[in-house]
Amino acid sequence: MSYASETRRRRTFAIISHPDAGKTTLTEKLLLFSGAIQIAGAVKGRKASRHATSDWMEIEKQRGISVASSVMQMSYRDHVINLLDTPGHKDFSEDTYRVLTAVDSALMVIDAANGVETQTRRLIEVCRQRDTPIITFVNKMDREVRDPLDILDEVERELGMPCCPMTWPVGQGRSFGGIIDLRTQSMTVFQPGSEKRPEDFEVIPLSEADRLRARFGQTFDDALESMELAVGASAEWSHEQFLAAKLTPVFFGSGVNNFGVKEVLDAVVDMSPPPGPRKSTLLVNKQPVEKVVHPEDPGFAGVVFKVQANMDANHRDRIAFVRVASGKYTPGMKMRVQRTGKELRPTSVVTFMSQRREAVEEAYAGDIVGFTTHGGVQLGDTITDGPALQFTGLPFFAPEMFMTVVLKNPLRTKQLHEGLMQLGEEGAIQVFKPEAGGNMLLGAVGQLQFEVVQHRLNTEYNCDIRLEGCQYTGARWITADTPAELREFENAYPMRMARDAANTLAFLCTSPYDVRLAQERFPKIHFHPLREHA
Ligand code: G4P
Repeated sequence: MSYASETRRRRTFAIISHPDAGKTTLTEKLLLFSGAIQIAGAVKGRKASRHATSDWMEIEKQRGISVASSVMQMSYRDHVINLLDTPGHKDFSEDTYRVLTAVDSALMVIDAANGVETQTRRLIEVCRQRDTPIITFVNKMDREVRDPLDILDEVERELGMPCCPMTWPVGQGRSFGGIIDLRTQSMTVFQPGSEKRPEDFEVIPLSEADRLRARFGQTFDDALESMELAVGASAEWSHEQFLAAKLTPVFFGSGVNNFGVKEVLDAVVDMSPPPGPRKSTLLVNKQPVEKVVHPEDPGFAGVVFKVQANMDANHRDRIAFVRVASGKYTPGMKMRVQRTGKELRPTSVVTFMSQRREAVEEAYAGDIVGFTTHGGVQLGDTITDGPALQFTGLPFFAPEMFMTVVLKNPLRTKQLHEGLMQLGEEGAIQVFKPEAGGNMLLGAVGQLQFEVVQHRLNTEYNCDIRLEGCQYTGARWITADTPAELREFENAYPMRMARDAANTLAFLCTSPYDVRLAQERFPKIHFHPLREHA
């Protein structure tokens, strides 16, 4: 098969939701229906075994949250589907944002009783910024939940785009009778239980209205009425509008009961886009020039969107998660990390099947490949087998809280630096080194990040540290049009300057007014709340 036909049959998407909406359940059912796993419960089982093999994830277990996001590949209807899970806890939102840079579409799961919740809202914002198409799944219809019209209204408001219902619920909770597929004009009858396969559900055409009425009574008529209202008030289906992230198709169901799930899996294949082009910069005569990389371009190129310490604490190796952007990966091929120009020699290269990691035979645009290395790879790095290009767009957010690191045993300074450097490269935390010297600063977006880092420094690097509060409450990355202007600024605030793990200069703030005052004093300096890996 050609590169183009391989990439056309790929779908790479992320599941986004607020904790408890049913993301894990739905993921499991998608895997089940694609044949990737045989028994329900396997995904949760995997979660549990991961805890057992990794100490630092003890934190995750204690708090019942998902610190690490994972990747799963499956095949369905002759398509290769790459599903990326996103950590639900708000303190790990940065990690999630980066995962969203690696996908071509998103599946939003909402709890029909709770509607669009806070965590989902933030994720939606990121999808909106990137014009990522979103499919919506309204889950838990087997419970007493909100009126579906009300939910549609909320989704429209929160997403800022019209909804187009694809399926419509008949009743809810105890009276939940099933869903009407608006496209086939038929009703799929609900039956509780987690053993059901899609083909087990009874399907009755709407043309047999009398039969449906006899069976579901007033609930059926009410559903028809509200469906009519919904259709009247909603946008007409337009694939182009969906691809342009200007419309979301909405499905209803109950993940735990395997119900309404196949419709979503089919939508991923039929509606979601295959891998698209990605922007990068190419150095031509040492000058950066914008270059668009197409999935079917022959050269291999990929971008590291996540780095994770390997679970085995005895081996200090890490897995770099690479989203393939073009060409084909084959074992043994020569690749370079473009930031350093160094050859990448991974100890293993894996793909992520639902339950296991397997050696990669080949990978194409859209696929996620894990390179196990002993270092030399950072978040945002571009890996190619040829041209010196660098993908853009991987976001780093200015930390909103800071702590100073105090090492209890000064003899472990070297290990502390090594640990902080590696954790910084992974994006677990942002590490700032004050230009004027003194203790390292840790910057985070969420409090929990500090706890994870403290724990990992202890268990993986044998560094017992104390974290102390400090006066800083924010940071801005600094650029200037000329070196002289930058120097002038640095001289004015010598105690406020620090460098992050990528050696980018930042201005540390003690209050929101700091930036404003500094900006007034130095109108030519640019203060950036977000740094894109460049
Ligand atoms: P998350 O990954 O988004 O955090 O959610 P998860 O799938 O773990 O689901 C959260 C809870 O909601 C689970 O119950 C799950 O069984 C339940 N759930 C998921 N889908 C449905 C649904 O369609 N209907 C109903 N009624 N419940 C659903 P739990 O009690 O927290 O866990 P468990 O003991 O059932 O595994």
